[in-house]
Amino acid sequence: MQHISLVKLAHQAIKEKLRPEDIAIDATLGNGLDTVFLAEQVGSSGRVYGFDIQRTAVEAVALKLASWRCLTLIHASHAEMDKEIPVQDHGNIRACMFNLGYLPGGDKRIITQAESTLTALTIASRILVDNGVLTILAYPGHLGGELETLQVTNWCEQLDRQQFKAEMVSCGQNQASAPRLFVINKMG
Ligand SMILES: C[S@@+](CC[C@H](N)C(=O)[O-])C[C@H]1O[C@@H](n2cnc3c(N)ncnc32)[C@H](O)[C@@H]1O
Repeated sequence: MQHISLVKLAHQAIKEKLRPEDIAIDATLGNGLDTVFLAEQVGSSGRVYGFDIQRTAVEAVALKLASWRCLTLIHASHAEMDKEIPVQDHGNIRACMFNLGYLPGGDKRIITQAESTLTALTIASRILVDNGVLTILAYPGHLGGELETLQVTNWCEQLDRQQFKAEMVSCGQNQASAPRLFVINKMG
């Protein structure tokens, strides 16, 4: 339940910014739930780029969401987003979501890795439009998740405060293993 509420908070933060015809990124496609949410906000004239390193995930979501014309699903690491997203869309991304960790219902050994996550976050923060929003849902409770969450926390702390406003929401009575949500707004 705590996990669901942080996802809802991330959606809420994005909903405040994302409008029809906007461009958004789901950096961790997984089962496509966040992609659907983003697609609903931008509508058929917008665009949602979805990334996942698991071909099966990309293919399953492509099948499930075949009627959504605004989707571009990419079987690649989010660390490649600057190469995979057309240059004309750089600087025009209104929202970018990272939901880290492993695919629910999938292979729990395949997890996001701190190094590629930080590379992708740095690119995402650069290609975001002014007034755009970046959300990161991090899970320190699984193997590898603790280090990744720490590194994401450090990455948020080193952001230029003139350019970005970063907030962190945690749940679970401040337990070290509790999921946390980072919401980063790029100032205009
Ligand atoms: C927690 S799940 C995402 C849940 C998803 N947003 C949803 O709504 O169902 C994390 C996903 O990140 C993917 N992933 C891991 N490393 C990745 C990378 N470097 N680039 C893109 N996706 C990655 C995993 O394969 C997994 O599907």
